[in-house]
Amino acid sequence: MEFAQQPILVTGGAGFIGANFVNDWLAGENTPVVTLDKLTYAGNPDNLSDWRGDARHEFVRADIGDVAAVNALLARVRPRAIVNFAAESHVDRSIHGPEDFITTNIVGTFRLLECARAYWSGLADAEQAAFRFLHVSTDEVYGSLQPGTAPFREINPFEPNSPYAASKAASDHLVRAWHHTYGLPVITTNCSNNYGPYQFPEKLIPLVIHHALVGKALPIYGDGRQVRDWLYVGDHCAAVRTVLRKGRLGETYNIGGWNEQANIDVVHMICDLLDAERPRGDGISYRDQVTHVADRPGHDRRYAIDAGKIFHELGWKPRESFATGLRKTIRWYLDNVAWVERVVSGDYRDWLAQNYAAR
Ligand code: NAD
Ligand code: TYD
Repeated sequence: MEFAQQPILVTGGAGFIGANFVNDWLAGENTPVVTLDKLTYAGNPDNLSDWRGDARHEFVRADIGDVAAVNALLARVRPRAIVNFAAESHVDRSIHGPEDFITTNIVGTFRLLECARAYWSGLADAEQAAFRFLHVSTDEVYGSLQPGTAPFREINPFEPNSPYAASKAASDHLVRAWHHTYGLPVITTNCSNNYGPYQFPEKLIPLVIHHALVGKALPIYGDGRQVRDWLYVGDHCAAVRTVLRKGRLGETYNIGGWNEQANIDVVHMICDLLDAERPRGDGISYRDQVTHVADRPGHDRRYAIDAGKIFHELGWKPRESFATGLRKTIRWYLDNVAWVERVVSGDYRDWLAQNYAAR
């Protein structure tokens, strides 16, 4: 088979963004996908259930740090690209227990890079030239912005402030070094906060939707004036496909929504949309459930992305506005209550107790 027709290998493809990426890919592209995922608490094979029995998709349960398993998979599948979404991804969990973040995000990425390098070294010249290792990262590596200062550009220094951000920054450095030292054809993307279907309800937007509907408090850390740049997950996936197709080797591309919002405003918007779509029985607004709780330690005040490079070089820009993306997201959660119920089982309740009880 032509190398260009070989599958892509998506790591972390049973998580939030990875699953959206696999689903969008298989709906719109011709080449098959192999998903490798460890299925931590955040990974859910239900997110890929559309492709059960479809010859274009294979799911493999494995850890990116399991060298024997990854080497065997690469030798068998001969992917034309690896798109690395696999990570521990939640800042609050990284504060309570940083070790998993070091293990997966740093050591795991290192081992995956080494497996990729061994595989790539054995390819024919034309295949080596076509191969890509695309590393998916975050804007949190750049640290926190003061109000009114310019959004993050690719040339900003790394100033990570949480264990999560530090572990992702370290992984980005490893990916860069594997290009400069060994010539591995890598590209890195640094994206802002995503939202959309299949996001685990530990993150702000799905947590607030879920808690609103079950009558729980909507916890706002500190004053709620922290600013994030929100991007609809489908737009992120389109950006990653664009970078995979056209991105320049060794480069990094910032991806964002040109959409800065304070947390309290996001929560109020969700409440207002839910008031319209699924009003409370007592006629009171969901805003009544908003509760200010103790702030996150080391909480970054503001993230904002300058997505000019990917627009000018590769022609990508977001399609969803925050209003359309948020409405779609809320409808998805309203239509998929069974999905939410399945993921908020035992472990989730333990997490809520750990993170919120002492606040
Ligand atoms: P997620 O936590 O929802 O999913 C992560 C997935 O990786 C899960 O399916 C999990 O089972 C899997 N995984 C974890 N450790 C693994 C390991 N050792 N080996 C194999 N699989 C493993 O995360 P997400 O929000 O979908 O984020 C995906 C990627 O995008 C991450 O690298 C994250 O840093 C990055 N990112 C996320 C956001 C965001 O807003 N969510 C923004 C920018 C970048
Ligand atoms: P989160 O979704 O955890 O993403 P990140 O920390 O990667 O930006 O949080 C988004 C923002 O919402 C962040 O400023 C923290 C805040 N937040 C709350 O105020 N309350 C919550 O319960 C959660 C989970 C987050």
